[in-house]
Amino acid sequence: MEKTEKYSLLLEQIKALLEGEEDWVARMANAAAAIHQAFGFWWTGFYRVADDPGVKVRGRELILGPFQGPVACMHIPFGKGVCGTAWERAATVIVPDVELFPGHIACSSASKSEIVVPLIRDGVVTAVLDIDSDRLDSFDEIDAIWLEKIAAIV
Ligand code: SME
Repeated sequence: MEKTEKYSLLLEQIKALLEGEEDWVARMANAAAAIHQAFGFWWTGFYRVADDPGVKVRGRELILGPFQGPVACMHIPFGKGVCGTAWERAATVIVPDVELFPGHIACSSASKSEIVVPLIRDGVVTAVLDIDSDRLDSFDEIDAIWLEKIAAIV
């Protein structure tokens, strides 16, 4: 199946899965599982912007949210790593080779390429969707376009 067709089906699946669910943990958990399962990525998950007054925050940072894959870093500062950069730019970041990205945060040595897509509500980044592949150059503009559509409904 072509990538575009796979993403198109995945978007419909996630829309159906999330319908009527208001809890963000449940929404992110099933969205991460559906994406991970569809493409067999190395790591698929969310980092939340830690602005919840109920959360104990050490400065401006992202905190690990629901994910699929090996254990990962739990705190990422604003502007740091691929995730913190996508947050700072409020834009998708594609990294074909993580070793060539200055400041990349290596949670796993198996990760070779990465895409990070921000979740934006009312112009403010509330979380990021982070996907790692164990192969180089796994992500392109097609992934960016479809993952942005998915990020917009989570
Ligand atoms: N590589 C990311 C950190 C998160 S892990 O990949 C799950 C980064 O540089 O922000």
